[in-house]
Amino acid sequence: MDQILQIYEKYGNSKYSLYLLLGFFFLTIYRFLTMKYFKPPAKNGLVIVTGCTVGGMGETIAVDLAKQGFHVLAGVRKEENGKDLVNLHPEVKEFLHPVIVDVGKDDSVEALAKNFEQKYLKKYNAPLVGIVNNAGIGYPMPIEIADIQKCSDVFNVNVIGVIRMTKAFTKYLRESRGRIVNIGSATSTMAMQCDGPYASSKFAGEGLADSMRLELMKWDISVSLIVVGQIKTSMWGKLTGSNAPSKQISRSSKEEELYGELFDQVQKAVGQFQGTLSPPSVVSRAVVHGITSPYPKTRYVVANISGIPVFILRNLIPLLPDRIVDLIKLNLS
Ligand SMILES: NC(=O)c1ccc[n+]([C@@H]2O[C@H](COP(=O)([O-])OP(=O)(O)OC[C@H]3O[C@@H](n4cnc5c(N)ncnc54)[C@H](OP(=O)(O)O)[C@@H]3O)[C@@H](O)[C@H]2O)c1
Repeated sequence: MDQILQIYEKYGNSKYSLYLLLGFFFLTIYRFLTMKYFKPPAKNGLVIVTGCTVGGMGETIAVDLAKQGFHVLAGVRKEENGKDLVNLHPEVKEFLHPVIVDVGKDDSVEALAKNFEQKYLKKYNAPLVGIVNNAGIGYPMPIEIADIQKCSDVFNVNVIGVIRMTKAFTKYLRESRGRIVNIGSATSTMAMQCDGPYASSKFAGEGLADSMRLELMKWDISVSLIVVGQIKTSMWGKLTGSNAPSKQISRSSKEEELYGELFDQVQKAVGQFQGTLSPPSVVSRAVVHGITSPYPKTRYVVANISGIPVFILRNLIPLLPDRIVDLIKLNLS
């Protein structure tokens, strides 16, 4: 207290106190303009989370939401993946309910939506209060030699999958004034070489989330996007090392001649940043906030890229000329 008084005596009548007061004033206005109240969801409500296979961030998201007391309809594509999820988390098994849903297929999403009221809302005597669009796939390949079908698959899952889920389930969120949380990627902040198919789908995801947020505001449905850096999940094992799509390219092919050096560079870079990956809990913390907080954020920017916090990159990169950003990126990959 004495110290505070001393500071006040020293600076109380100076120009610094005016700057401080002005700072507080603008901060308060800024907070007032950027925060919007949404009704917190029913504590025992249902939340659908897509892509909950063990080892991915969907697992952590589903478990952390179940720990909050939500009934989680944990989307998986194979029945055994649902069993693995529940067996691995017996502490929340009464709140974890695996459901089969392939967001890349109309009939699969329609099958989950069919008799939804009877099968889930009445069964658990609770409203649907949230959807977490987490399912996603990558395809690291330079655009010139990328397979068109695989590029379409990436968009079909990462973009159209979100649209399918929104079309099928928003009517229930309208009743509960529920929430949607989409999992985006920091790649939509800085697309790297060999990342075109995935990065462009996550750029599209930003536009999708912005439009959805505006359209659904009328019914007090909150839409948040989590802009995620590099996270330690099974995704890396699926797309790198011996599973890298580039490994399917023959050593003597034209593609290898053109892009072999880039593949080696990317492989090396992926190896280097493995030690800087963040745990999936940083994502699930943001998801839980987006689903439960009376003041959900429109965007949560979490984790790092090559050890640099994404929120720094996201604020810095738009200020720099593209050519400078290109130089930085070329030195990172
Ligand atoms: N890991 C990262 O560094 C990182 C960074 C930024 C953003 N992300 C995003 O975070 C999300 C989760 O990624 P992750 O790292 O947890 O990857 P992951 O371990 O590969 O998990 C992806 C999940 O999505 C599911 N999935 C794939 N295709 C699907 C489909 N057609 N329908 C329904 N589910 C499908 C997978 O199911 P199967 O097991 O059946 O294939 C799996 O459960 C993705 O949207 C990804 O783009 C990840």
